[in-house]
Amino acid sequence: MKRIVIMGATSGIGLRVAEIFAKAGWLVGAAGRNEKVMRKLQSDFPDRIRYARINIDDAASPSHLRDLIGRLGGMDIYLHVAGIGYENETLVTDHDVATAQTNVVGFTRMIDTAFRYFREHGGRGRIAAVTSVAGTKGIGQLASYSSSKKYQQAYLTALDQLAGMQNLDISFTDIRPGWIRTPLLNPDRVYPMTMSLDHAVASIVRAIIKRRRLCIVDWRWNLAVRLWSLLPDRIWERIPVNVSAPATPAQEKTDASVEKSLSQPEPPAEVKDPIDKSVTA
Ligand SMILES: NC(=O)c1ccc[n+]([C@@H]2O[C@H](COP(=O)([O-])OP(=O)(O)OC[C@H]3O[C@@H](n4cnc5c(N)ncnc54)[C@H](OP(=O)(O)O)[C@@H]3O)[C@@H](O)[C@H]2O)c1
Repeated sequence: MKRIVIMGATSGIGLRVAEIFAKAGWLVGAAGRNEKVMRKLQSDFPDRIRYARINIDDAASPSHLRDLIGRLGGMDIYLHVAGIGYENETLVTDHDVATAQTNVVGFTRMIDTAFRYFREHGGRGRIAAVTSVAGTKGIGQLASYSSSKKYQQAYLTALDQLAGMQNLDISFTDIRPGWIRTPLLNPDRVYPMTMSLDHAVASIVRAIIKRRRLCIVDWRWNLAVRLWSLLPDRIWERIPVNVSAPATPAQEKTDASVEKSLSQPEPPAEVKDPIDKSVTA
């Protein structure tokens, strides 16, 4: 049985990916802080889920991750989804520092631990991380968030190079989604080109299984990233980029129904399974 550890499996993208892998027959190590959600996940898939309460802001988290891997009996894929972010035009320092703490320091702890695990156990494995299209440029209203995502992307590139230098068969997948309606987003605001969770997660799972090095979700965001990447920073810096707008009453209604469906996820049997079973992971 193939084994995947998902850090940040208690909400949004990570929770849905965990359900899909469990349903497809994988042994899933689910981690995060919200134990109630993980208990429910385990009761839905008793033979497929092991879970651990891990706070990646905690310096002891690497040993907790190693314990979880031990309880799974090993790990084929480490998927890092955990992350936070704030729209922070006023630069509330606590928010920016918390974002750096989780998305930079916590990320580094976990990715290093996964890399070392693979290096010490056969020299092969796969590390995937959900970064963001926001990491492709500094974004004024998301200064800490966009910078932390850029760090994550550069870190994956660095470790990919290091794996080659150390003759390790460790591969990497950098998943960069645009906006997805999850609890990460402010429910009172609307965001451009927002995707449904199911639409985005199908692409994310496919990218992991097919060992894609880079996956921008979805094609519209791929196009947008290609276009804005062509802009020199001097021009980009002069463009007023508003990442969201207040929701109109009609939009609030639509968003409220999306939020409701997220807080009451579909029963596992109905989760669409985009995994191409002919592809071995
Ligand atoms: N939604 C989007 O539009 C979007 C777009 C691009 C990229 N992303 C990225 O996708 C990832 C997941 O986001 P999401 O939209 O699914 O958000 P979400 O629903 O808020 O989920 C965030 C996940 O991160 C975990 N987490 C946060 N802080 C943690 C910590 N200190 N230790 C351990 N786990 C922690 C949470 O678990 P606990 O609270 O249980 O700890 C939760 O499982 C993030 O990295 C985000 O930056 C999201």
